[in-house]
Amino acid sequence: MKKVNVALVGVGGHGTTIRKAVKMCPDINVIAIYDINETLLEEASKEFNCEKFSNYEQLFELSDLNALIIATPNHLHFEQAYKALKNGKHVFVEKPITVKVEEAKKLVKLASSKNLILQVGHNTRKRKVFRKAKEILESKELGEIVSFEANISMRTGLGLFPKWKMDKRKCPLLPMTQLGIHFIDVVHYLFGEISEVFATARKSILKVEDTVIATLKLKSGVIGALSSSYVSGDAYELKIYGTNGFVICYLNRIEIWKANENKPMILNLPEDIESYVEEIKEFSDCIIQGKNPEVDGYVGLKNLKVIEAMIESIDKKTVIKV
Ligand SMILES: NC(=O)c1ccc[n+]([C@@H]2O[C@H](COP(=O)([O-])OP(=O)(O)OC[C@H]3O[C@@H](n4cnc5c(N)ncnc54)[C@H](O)[C@@H]3O)[C@@H](O)[C@H]2O)c1
Repeated sequence: MKKVNVALVGVGGHGTTIRKAVKMCPDINVIAIYDINETLLEEASKEFNCEKFSNYEQLFELSDLNALIIATPNHLHFEQAYKALKNGKHVFVEKPITVKVEEAKKLVKLASSKNLILQVGHNTRKRKVFRKAKEILESKELGEIVSFEANISMRTGLGLFPKWKMDKRKCPLLPMTQLGIHFIDVVHYLFGEISEVFATARKSILKVEDTVIATLKLKSGVIGALSSSYVSGDAYELKIYGTNGFVICYLNRIEIWKANENKPMILNLPEDIESYVEEIKEFSDCIIQGKNPEVDGYVGLKNLKVIEAMIESIDKKTVIKV
């Protein structure tokens, strides 16, 4: 296969970023668009000069379709990805892989039994700051890693978010499902498996739990705290503490604070949509070369298991093993 023929499923919201990213991937050929919003469908099909569909099943009548890129609301991921895999198509699905762990397990099993690529859109670990943080941790310049503190919050919950992001059936742990999961994946990437969680949540402004805080224990012994809110001031910060200093990762900058030095080394690492381009390019490479992606269905499932453990922890007010 020289180029991968793709259908884009869900082309508004985050789908607009995916549209930009796809155009920067030379091995992707968009041949179809599916969305329930007529205006977006029209706009995107013109943009890619391709067919448009308002019936999902009809996509599978396209004999030359190889793969789907799904960027629809979370609760639709399972059914759409399952149907695509059943029809022999490779799948890139946005994070979270599904709403429920049981559903994610079914997708992972199906993709594996059919030898198809199932990739999940956890792009955050691919951001320059976290690639750099990984390098720093591997160089041991921070000494032994002891703990971390992270906060990923967006005030958009106060009015701008689509309604499904406030609905626990579609977005079970609200800000933690929608935002915090980015950092759950980063924690897995940087420090290894999360083994235990204890979480608490509050309805501070909204009628649903708009703020969640969890403590995490890792198999390596590292411990950390992760906060995520729909209503607090915007935050995007991961602090990693080692025996020789600490680093702070922001969206586009890293500060390295070495023990015994009174000012940090600052690395500015600006980026726009590079991490999205990288993940979509990886998707087409994996299909063409028969490789497994960095964030496959299994990694997506692992991230979702942490969310479910947090939900159980909040319900039972106790520590839960992941
Ligand atoms: N990786 C990231 O940085 C990132 C950022 C934002 C959102 N996301 C993920 O992307 C997904 C979409 O989120 P969003 O913020 O774009 O949501 P959104 O509600 O803004 O957009 C969803 C899109 O899906 C379409 N849609 C809705 N129902 C549909 C259906 N039944 N069939 C086909 N299309 C349908 C909508 O018309 C819209 O175009 C979510 O899974 C979210 O977690 C990822």
